[in-house]
Amino acid sequence: KSDAAISLTVNGTDHRLAVPPAAPLLDVLRNDLRLNGPKFGCGLGQCGACTVLIDGLAARACTIPAGSVAGRRIVTLEGLSRDGRLDAVQEAFVAEQAVQCGYCLNGMIMTLKALTLRDPAPDERAIREALRYNLCRCGTHLEILAAARRACG
Ligand code: FES
Repeated sequence: KSDAAISLTVNGTDHRLAVPPAAPLLDVLRNDLRLNGPKFGCGLGQCGACTVLIDGLAARACTIPAGSVAGRRIVTLEGLSRDGRLDAVQEAFVAEQAVQCGYCLNGMIMTLKALTLRDPAPDERAIREALRYNLCRCGTHLEILAAARRACG
């Protein structure tokens, strides 16, 4: 086994981890750092359940080799809250009860967070475009859109 140490900065904390650089970032976050906000859905970069922020941009952690993001600023769902208070995007999902099974929620929230970081007041078209490739198998799309409008309003 050829484990080499890699350095990751996650939610403001630096970590040195003995994992293969080719290991998917999602596996390292969930298995080594015990951050279970990002979810494993497809493992192919297609569903969005594993979304994290990398330097403020939405990224699919299942397809990113952990060794390729050393020194970048990685934020998971766990890193959104401040002083025990949820982020505005999270608050909006609670207010709109925009959840059924909840599995896609991490991806929806992290994708919207990335959108609001680059555009604090996106219009309907920008919201729909941002969420276009995040899948929800329960069909909770109307509530998710309501939460997105609330978060971006
Ligand atoms: Fe990463 Fe589906 S688990 S996109």
